[in-house]
Amino acid sequence: MPKIVLAGNWKMYKTQVESLEFLKAFIPLLADTPEQRCVILCVPFTNLQLLSQTLHGSIVQLGAQNVHWENNGAYTGEISAPMLTEIGVRYVIVGHSERRQYFGETDETVNLRLRSAQAAGLTPIFCVGETKQQRDKGEIETIISQQLQKGLIGIDQSNLIIAYEPIWAIGTGETCAASEANRVIGLIRNSLSNPHVPIQYGGSVKPENIDELMSQPHIDGVLVGGASLQPESFARIVNFNC
Ligand code: PGA
Repeated sequence: MPKIVLAGNWKMYKTQVESLEFLKAFIPLLADTPEQRCVILCVPFTNLQLLSQTLHGSIVQLGAQNVHWENNGAYTGEISAPMLTEIGVRYVIVGHSERRQYFGETDETVNLRLRSAQAAGLTPIFCVGETKQQRDKGEIETIISQQLQKGLIGIDQSNLIIAYEPIWAIGTGETCAASEANRVIGLIRNSLSNPHVPIQYGGSVKPENIDELMSQPHIDGVLVGGASLQPESFARIVNFNC
């Protein structure tokens, strides 16, 4: 597994034309990016095939934003793991808080999706994190350990990335203090059977805070929403200074 993982999550943004415009500006900005940094773009399903062809041979890897747990079947609107691997997708986000909040994703369905991803040879980016209310009530450790315990049943920890994304910091501009993100990620690491699983921080990561976040000993990378939509800002994040 790569140790430093910098992933962009485009969510429901960018048409194919807009994706190509992004790449035209973004790829040249990675000319001096150190090889050991794994750069991933998790894009809408409709852009995967095109980006798979366009990114071939570049440093940027391709990721999807969700995957179903069956290989095929009567599941209208869903996409399976073999459909993703067939077109060159290597990574997939699973259990993002927006999926949990708006689409009824539970720890159980997250676990099923993680398993199907791994079975097809994809590397899942498994998201965990607490709400503001849970944090204020002092429940953070309990919530995260429950998400991890249920999510990781039957999961191979040698082919896994975890993203710690405090929900109150996602899309709000309110970043978790780097030291606090580091503390929680340290707790997550201690609870894993494989301490080498890359663990990312996610939630309002931007060019202004990336260097401080990446200087923390436990933070192995970032999962970036809004700031991954602009080539210059995502390139600055990928090319963080350490
Ligand atoms: P944000 O999103 O960077 O826009 O806060 C992060 C995420 O949802 O993964």
